[in-house]
Amino acid sequence: MDTPSGFAATTAEETLDPSDWADVRVLSHRIVDDAVAYLRDVRERPVWQEMPGDVRDFFTASLPQSPTPLAEVYDDVTRSVMPYPMGNIHPRFWAWYMGSSNFTGALGDFLAAIQGSNLGGGNHAAALMDSQVVDWLKQMLGFPQSASGTLVSGGSMANIIGLTVARNAKAGVDVREYGVAAMAKPLRFYGSDQLHSCHRKAMEALGLGNRALRRIPTDAGLRIDIDALRKAIAEDRKAGFKPACVIGTAGTVNTGAIDDLQALARLAAEEDLWFHVDGCIGALIAIAPENAHRVAGIERAHSIALDPHKWLHAPFEVGCALVRDGASHRNAFAVTPEYLESTPRGLASGQWLHDYGLQTSRGFRALKVWMALKEHGVEKFGRLIDQNIAQGCTLARLIEAEPTLELTAPTSINIVCFRHRGDGLTGEALKALNTEIMLRLQEEGIAALSDTTVHGQHCLRVAINNHRTRREDLDLLVRETVRLGQEISKSGAAR
Ligand SMILES: Cc1ncc(COP(=O)(O)O)c(C=O)c1O
Repeated sequence: MDTPSGFAATTAEETLDPSDWADVRVLSHRIVDDAVAYLRDVRERPVWQEMPGDVRDFFTASLPQSPTPLAEVYDDVTRSVMPYPMGNIHPRFWAWYMGSSNFTGALGDFLAAIQGSNLGGGNHAAALMDSQVVDWLKQMLGFPQSASGTLVSGGSMANIIGLTVARNAKAGVDVREYGVAAMAKPLRFYGSDQLHSCHRKAMEALGLGNRALRRIPTDAGLRIDIDALRKAIAEDRKAGFKPACVIGTAGTVNTGAIDDLQALARLAAEEDLWFHVDGCIGALIAIAPENAHRVAGIERAHSIALDPHKWLHAPFEVGCALVRDGASHRNAFAVTPEYLESTPRGLASGQWLHDYGLQTSRGFRALKVWMALKEHGVEKFGRLIDQNIAQGCTLARLIEAEPTLELTAPTSINIVCFRHRGDGLTGEALKALNTEIMLRLQEEGIAALSDTTVHGQHCLRVAINNHRTRREDLDLLVRETVRLGQEISKSGAAR
């Protein structure tokens, strides 16, 4: 047998620990001071700025072979990384859909890395905290404490977890052992035509294929048409498919529309379907006193995907999948290899958390959520959600009052879809004008919006999932959009 030779007694053993902790301490204090100032002054900086050529070039440097003092490494980060963020911690970042992070959460991430635990499971404090945060999230949504759950990288993974459990529960065969080819009838999943793209990826990864996910038309409010859904299910049964799961969306990515979750829960029960809710945007509205009614029925789901890195503003990444029937959840993922058997005492006597998802090693995501919840209390997070929804409504009113702008979809929560009217422009020319407005808002560092197309109509899209946004930011956005619209139209730059 080949055995390692070992070091000679005289070889100095190496470590990644610093040779001088006092130096590292001084530098670390400076980093924390800089970090506090960075966040304190975020409003004074542009939302986003293009990187100059030398910064881009910096990231093509080759693999370092020899050491660099940590202070110089930090200088590199200060010069080339910190000034060029995506911008989502800025008060006027409203693109796509993300949270705006928070300092306490960042401290949590730092401490999680310092403490260093692997949340694959085991008997240690971080594992208990991971389960506690899952329990708190269940409580926030009115989900039974007997349900199970797992913290994952984000909403996409949380949806994959829920849909995997749904597939396995409805497959009619041991799909883990025999695969989807052994199913007597092909499964059908349903969701609205406003479903997030991660569901398509999930269907593909689950071996069911994109076509097994039927997109049901939406009404004028962009909510799933329940009658059309009922009809599609009947058609599929007749055609030899097995209707398996309906995905309700609590807050669509395009417009924030919330499907009628009560009606979907009823229909799922009548049709014997799994009821999954994609609540990545809106599930946490359940903690917002003024708006919780909008997501009534979410507590009746079989599984829910939600995203603490959105409306709890946890630093990336943290999503969560909740499953009402804990046994189905565990049965979908648990594997006990010989090297991960539990012991009656000691480190391996705790729960194996990797039994609830696809990862084996897992980061200590719970700490950043736990610390911020503990510091502020859940009621404040609820009020901040109400605040963002009120801001969405305010912005919609400002747009309605501005003759050169128009809303293009109903504003139900914190997402506002609108466009510049473009003084008689239509089609591609109107789209080009609005795209140019969006790009200049970004390039001038004023605001980050994104765009989308809803029921065939291109629009700009403002998603106010941001605890730093103030009313004055919304006024500024409207003012600057009107100014840019005028400038671009005059110069003909968009054509
Ligand atoms: C409705 C919805 N579902 C799923 C996701 C995916 O979440 P994540 O980006 O955390 O993977 C998003 C992201 O914005 C979303 O809006």
